[in-house]
Amino acid sequence: MRHIEITPKKNLIISIYYVCGMNQIQELLSDSMVGKTATIHGWVYRIRSSGKLTFIILRDSSGIIQMLSSTRTLSEEQHRELSSLTVESSMEATGVVSKDDRAVTGYELEIRSYRIYQRNENFPISKDLGEEFLLDNRHLWIRSREFTSILKIRSTIFKAYADFYYQNGYYQVQPPLMVSTATEGGSTLFKVPFFGEEVSLTQSAQFYLETFIFSLERVFTLAPSFRAEKSRTRRHLTEYWHAEVEAAWLDNEGMMSVEERMIQYIVEQVLEHNLDDLKLLGRDIELLEKVKAPFPRIRYGDLMKKCQEWGLNLKYGDDLGADEEREITVHFEKPVFVTHYPAELKTFYHRPDPENPKEILCHDLLAPEGYGEIIGGGERIWDLKTLEDRMEQYNLNKSDYYWYLDLRRYGSIPHSGFGLGLDRLAMWIMHLETIRDAIPYPRTIRRIKP
Ligand code: 4AD
Ligand code: MG
Repeated sequence: MRHIEITPKKNLIISIYYVCGMNQIQELLSDSMVGKTATIHGWVYRIRSSGKLTFIILRDSSGIIQMLSSTRTLSEEQHRELSSLTVESSMEATGVVSKDDRAVTGYELEIRSYRIYQRNENFPISKDLGEEFLLDNRHLWIRSREFTSILKIRSTIFKAYADFYYQNGYYQVQPPLMVSTATEGGSTLFKVPFFGEEVSLTQSAQFYLETFIFSLERVFTLAPSFRAEKSRTRRHLTEYWHAEVEAAWLDNEGMMSVEERMIQYIVEQVLEHNLDDLKLLGRDIELLEKVKAPFPRIRYGDLMKKCQEWGLNLKYGDDLGADEEREITVHFEKPVFVTHYPAELKTFYHRPDPENPKEILCHDLLAPEGYGEIIGGGERIWDLKTLEDRMEQYNLNKSDYYWYLDLRRYGSIPHSGFGLGLDRLAMWIMHLETIRDAIPYPRTIRRIKP
């Protein structure tokens, strides 16, 4: 039996269901379905019975709908069986759609036949449970409507990131995850045994991306990065999703203009595809609509002066951590680029500003509303001698980095790149309290399960 018209906008899953004669709940929530027969699958979200009538709210990946069980269309025994269902039991139901303003999503399916796949005993998750309990039960909590929306928004963000670079002539590349060199300093490396040697999990694909630009010029990647961070802030994970880009012939300013267009595009895609999800999460949509390029740029030195005007206890030379960035970014509605940090606040590969070599041609992009750094990037040192000097200052063993130095020996060119923390981006776009809620299975200093 085929019940619905396929519109070109429907995704693949829906058309596969359609071929099998099934519907997604979202498709039923429309006047054009009233009076039609439909078959849906899902999980019991809520159930309420008044003896004669039982209302079962069914949930699938697309939404929820009220279903009605009564002896008008079912036998006494069937009605009793449905009335005794428990939350998160799995089932299939076929019935006729009607419009009903009292129903939670405005429509109702009156059940004519059904199949129960599994009846639950005591689903452990109910209202008002503590954060640790929900983290221990993440495998079950990700079924919640909130988390379903979080997962959908993440899906849009990851797709939009890749689409943006494909649309702009970049190639996707796959650098290794097990590495023998540190990019962001040795202190946060995860060590892994490797056939009698010790290697580490990558902190950043940057150095490998730099190798690819000599064949492809513009590259991007999407992979986990690992940081053995001891920090317990609301924005640190030990395993996070890192979107990294490297481009030949671009300077710091050129890279920033790519990034602001990328962020605008990702936010636009989320607004286009996930408006209901954002609303379910209580996101202020108007603020997201303001995320349009160009973003303000401010030099680190000028920012420190501004901080003093705002009464913040920060001076030139101070590093900006989570707390400082929170205090700074409450003053902004759009993301803001902070550029020209003093060289000693960052790692060795950033190109010094020729006009003032004590500062580097780099930038961090700070998300507004108190969120802080989501991107770190800038122009790379492309002159061999300068890079070797910087490595010496940082006590790095040049032979470990022979391949990175080779890039400055053979056809070296100006180039820039950046790394964007996608979980941090997701956290800000959804306005979540902690990064642990932006990723389904957070890995932090205290959590490796489930
Ligand atoms: O600023 P970071 O350390 O820069 C780099 O790794 C560069 N090599 C990237 C590049 O130029 N290709 O990290 C980049 C971004 C940060 O701005 C932040 O968004 C995210 O990665 N990040 C983390 N996200 C979650 N948990 C952590 N512990 C993170 N550390 C960095
Ligand atoms: Mg950084």
